[in-house]
Amino acid sequence: MAKIQFVVTYWICLTICLVGCTPPEDHIKCSSGNTNCTITNTYATFPDRSICRAAEAMYPKSEQELISIVANATSLQRKMKVATTTSHSIPKLMCPGGENGIIISTKYLNRTVNVDKSAMTITVEPGVTLRQLINASAAAGLALPYAPYWWGLTVGGMLGTGAHGSTLWGLGSAVHDYVIQLRIVTPAGPDEGYAKVRTLRNGDPELNAARVSLGVLGVISQVTLQLQPLFKRSITYVQKNDSDFGDQASTFGRQHEFADFTWYPSQHKVVYRIDDRVPSNTTGNGLYDFMGFRSTPSLFLALIRTAEETQESIRDAVGKCINGGITTSILTNAAYGLTNDGSMFKGYPVVGYNNRLQSSGSCLDSPQDGLITACPWDPRVKGLYYFQNGFSIGLSKVKDFIQDVQKLVSLQPRALCGVDLYDGFLIRYVTASSAYLGKQEDALDFDITYYRSKDPMAPRLYEDILEEIEQMAVIKYGGLPHWGKNRNLAFVGAINKYQNATEFLKVKQLYDPLGLFSNEWTDQILGIKDGITIMKDGCALEGLCICSQDSHCAPQKGYFCRPGKVYTDARVCTRLSS
Ligand SMILES: Cc1cc2nc3c(=O)[nH]c(=O)nc-3n(C[C@H](O)[C@H](O)[C@H](O)COP(=O)(O)OP(=O)(O)OC[C@H]3O[C@@H](n4cnc5c(N)ncnc54)[C@H](O)[C@@H]3O)c2cc1C
Ligand SMILES: *[C@@H]1O[C@H](CO)[C@@H](O)[C@H](O)[C@H]1NC(C)=O
Ligand SMILES: *[C@@H]1O[C@H](CO)[C@@H](O)[C@H](O)[C@H]1NC(C)=O
Ligand SMILES: *[C@@H]1O[C@H](CO)[C@@H](O)[C@H](O)[C@H]1NC(C)=O
Ligand SMILES: *[C@@H]1O[C@H](CO)[C@@H](O)[C@H](O)[C@H]1NC(C)=O
Ligand SMILES: *[C@@H]1O[C@H](CO)[C@@H](O)[C@H](O)[C@H]1NC(C)=O
Ligand SMILES: *[C@@H]1O[C@H](CO)[C@@H](O)[C@H](O)[C@H]1NC(C)=O
Ligand SMILES: *[C@@H]1O[C@H](CO)[C@@H](O)[C@H](O)[C@H]1NC(C)=O
Repeated sequence: MAKIQFVVTYWICLTICLVGCTPPEDHIKCSSGNTNCTITNTYATFPDRSICRAAEAMYPKSEQELISIVANATSLQRKMKVATTTSHSIPKLMCPGGENGIIISTKYLNRTVNVDKSAMTITVEPGVTLRQLINASAAAGLALPYAPYWWGLTVGGMLGTGAHGSTLWGLGSAVHDYVIQLRIVTPAGPDEGYAKVRTLRNGDPELNAARVSLGVLGVISQVTLQLQPLFKRSITYVQKNDSDFGDQASTFGRQHEFADFTWYPSQHKVVYRIDDRVPSNTTGNGLYDFMGFRSTPSLFLALIRTAEETQESIRDAVGKCINGGITTSILTNAAYGLTNDGSMFKGYPVVGYNNRLQSSGSCLDSPQDGLITACPWDPRVKGLYYFQNGFSIGLSKVKDFIQDVQKLVSLQPRALCGVDLYDGFLIRYVTASSAYLGKQEDALDFDITYYRSKDPMAPRLYEDILEEIEQMAVIKYGGLPHWGKNRNLAFVGAINKYQNATEFLKVKQLYDPLGLFSNEWTDQILGIKDGITIMKDGCALEGLCICSQDSHCAPQKGYFCRPGKVYTDARVCTRLSS
């Protein structure tokens, strides 16, 4: 009964949702004018749950204004950091350091500067969103072939953290590998007026630092990307069991240009995305409007959050598996939000233009409706609240990693059902990059999203299994954490996995010798300062540490620090039933 109700509610909700929703909120809040500000990410929670403060927020409307802001701040040796309207990174990348820091918003730097049809390039300001970029390119008959799946990211922010889609083809899946020219405003000495604009072109080694910069080199003021003629593609999702997934994982991406996987380990299912370019006279006007990125009624969001909170509190693993299975079947039956013509899904393949299929995010457009509907993670409503691991594992090692996860599932068959409530493991191809902080080899990137309690001291159901997978990924298999996702522990030693990290630091020293664009977090992940992990009671529950003693877990709730089950070097919070 409850199950049927769940499904029915879901469908009704999806229908009413078309009425309209409230756009995402501003992440910068100032108490008087543009001073005494706080900044947060789109979830309104950083990994350590702290709050970032800044003395001032600035909103330049041109490169010229940007230069004078950077010059003024540099002359006063004030810390700065770029913030976007989207603020979608999980870690504290967007916080200016110090007491007197300045937030430089790219909100009004959102113009398309030029589209050159014959050279097939687009030049944009950094605050342009992925959605705008795709739209402006398509309007000129051009396409950025590979991109993140969500519209609500800015060009500056995507370069900041190395954002990507999925492919092993062409120049690869990362947006930064399509940059052919970039302008960046950096601090300078008094003789140069305290700020200068540097133009970096393809082939310039400094561009390899700026492609993925964590925002520590200065403010990117203009980006030129290499595009291609707009093309059509054909998408078919095929569901299979995961018996031979380990073998398939490293080769499938060579067969299909836009291949990816959605893996439901506890259900022993994998959805293979068979997705390739097709001739542009192929019939079809498909559209992707991913269900997880649609405006969703707050009432429904509260319902599913409450259901999960209840299941967590009574440790109802069976219930989570049932709801996980229902969620998966709703998504697969609805083709995840694909339609053949923009309104109905009639069957595979879905054929259409790249600009209508590569990314989505309809919850971004929305009239004010007092939050009757919202993006599912909007912190203003009671909705999804989660952790997200994102790491890439080299193709040569990915089979062993997948098989280790399968061993864990065979030991604890229900342990990963909770992940299915967030659409399983999203697995995408990422590619070796010349960017110093880009991927070092071709790899598979795993995005794993799961329940986070509002109470930092509350352990999760099967806490230990996901902790073990996380440690296995970044330690045993040397995985690289996505700079814009993850919990603190994933970044321990990460910088040592980048062959050219010292080249990056040299450019940083050259551009910003005083570290005005750096904060404590960027110093920590770049290996300049200690303190990525925070040792305190319950720290392992929040991923702030790897437990080394029971108090890092929740001993009073029966969770103790123990070795992993498959990767025995892992130290995880395990529930011991007495
Ligand atoms: C719903 C959702 C979907 C996502 N989907 C994907 C995906 O498909 N693929 C993927 O790889 N990632 C994905 N991400 C993660 C996302 O790509 C990164 O977190 C990205 O960096 C966020 O971009 P942003 O514009 O919000 O930048 P922010 O998070 O605000 O900033 C990121 C960094 O870039 C710096 N920065 C921004 N602009 C400039 C500039 N002009 N000059 C210098 N530095 C600058 C900031 O200071 C900061 O250090 C997703 C995140 C969410 C929440
Ligand atoms: C700054 O803002 C905080 C709230 O964010 C407020 O408590 C404080 O009084 C403000 N300080 C000043 C000097 O305005
Ligand atoms: C520099 O910034 C300070 C404080 O924000 C401001 O009062 C001053 O006018 C600025 N100076 C210039 C030259 O912009
Ligand atoms: C740029 O951003 C401003 C402020 O958010 C908005 O009013 C304007 O419509 C945006 N411009 C474009 C081209 O999207
Ligand atoms: C670009 O966006 C506008 C406004 O949303 C829309 O009307 C137009 O069809 C889009 N163009 C393309 C090529 O997607
Ligand atoms: C998985 O599917 C393959 C065929 O694709 C089949 O041979 C195999 O028996 C299946 N394994 C399980 C456990 O169902
Ligand atoms: C598409 O065009 C090619 C030649 O460019 C032709 O051979 C083919 O038959 C066309 N296909 C369709 C479906 O019209
Ligand atoms: C490191 O940088 C040097 C100089 O730019 C380059 O030749 C080399 O290929 C880079 N190595 C990697 C792994 O990126």
